[in-house]
Amino acid sequence: APDIDVEAVKGDLKELQSIADSNGGNRAHGQPGYKASVDFIKKKLDEAGFKTAIQEFDNGGAKGYNLIADWPGGSEDKVVMAGSHLDSVSAGPGINDNGSGSAAILEVALAAAKADLKPAKHLRFAWWGDEEDGMVGSTHYVDKLASGDKSKIDSYLNFDMLGSPNPGYFVYDDDTELEKVFTDWFAAKDIKTDPETEGDGRSDHAPFKDAGVRVGGLFTGAEATKSQEQADKWGGKAGEPFDPCYHSACDKTSNIDDKALDLNTDAIANAIWTLSS
Ligand code: PHE
Ligand code: CA
Ligand code: ZN
Ligand code: ZN
Ligand code: ZN
Repeated sequence: APDIDVEAVKGDLKELQSIADSNGGNRAHGQPGYKASVDFIKKKLDEAGFKTAIQEFDNGGAKGYNLIADWPGGSEDKVVMAGSHLDSVSAGPGINDNGSGSAAILEVALAAAKADLKPAKHLRFAWWGDEEDGMVGSTHYVDKLASGDKSKIDSYLNFDMLGSPNPGYFVYDDDTELEKVFTDWFAAKDIKTDPETEGDGRSDHAPFKDAGVRVGGLFTGAEATKSQEQADKWGGKAGEPFDPCYHSACDKTSNIDDKALDLNTDAIANAIWTLSS
C-alpha cells in the first residue's frame, strides 16, 4: 500500500474548517455546513472515477445525507467497506471528530484510484450523516440493506477520531482477524496499541456489528484520560484527556496531532490493500 501524504489529509481538514467557518461554525446534521461537506468530498471522488451516491434520510425534522462511493470492479459478493461520520456536533467545526476519519478515508480512496487498484474484493467507502444523534445515517443504511446484501459485506472498518492531540493508539477488538491487520502494522512501526474500549457501541460500526457484519477500526481517544502507562509508551500527557476539545468549539485544525493522523491514515491504506486483495 502507498504511504499517504499527511499534508493531503491536512489540506482536506483545512477545507472542512473553512466550510464550518462560512456556515455558522459547525458542520452538524441539518445545518448547511453538513451538506457543503458532503458536496466537497463527493466532487473529489467523482473526479477520481468513483461511482458515488447520496442516500437521504430524515431525522429531527431535517434531511440527512450519507455519501456512498464505490470503486468499480472486484467481486460484488465480497465487499470491503470503510466508513467515517462526516457530521460534527453543533458546538464546533468537528475537525478531529470526525473530519480526521473523513479526510483519512478520502485520501485512501483517492490513492486507490491513483494506483488504479484492481482488488479481488469490491471496495466501498461511506461518509455517514448524523452520527452525533445516535448513528442515525449508518443505522439507516444498514436497515435499508436487503438481507442478501448484508451477507455480501466481507468487513466494515470504522474511523472516528484519528488525530487526537494527546493521542492514544487504539484498535477495535471486535474481530480478531481485522484487529490483527492493524496491530501487526503498528507493531512493525514499534508502536504498542491498546484494544479500543472507550467507544464500544458508540460509533457507526455498531449497526453493522448488530447486523452480524465483522467490524474493525482505529481510534485515538476522546474525553477519557491517558494513564501514566499509556503516556510512557505513547508520549503525551498522563492524567489529561486524549482530546480536550472533544465536542467543543475548539475542535478545529489546531486540535490535531499530525503524527497520529499520519500513522492512522497509512494504517488504513495498508488494511484496505490487504483486506481487499
Ligand atoms: N462516536 C463518538 C462521537 O462521535 C466518538 C467515539 C468514537 C467515542 C469511538 C468512542 C469511540 O462523539
Ligand atoms: Ca503517511
Ligand atoms: Zn462526536
Ligand atoms: Zn465521532
Ligand atoms: Zn472493544
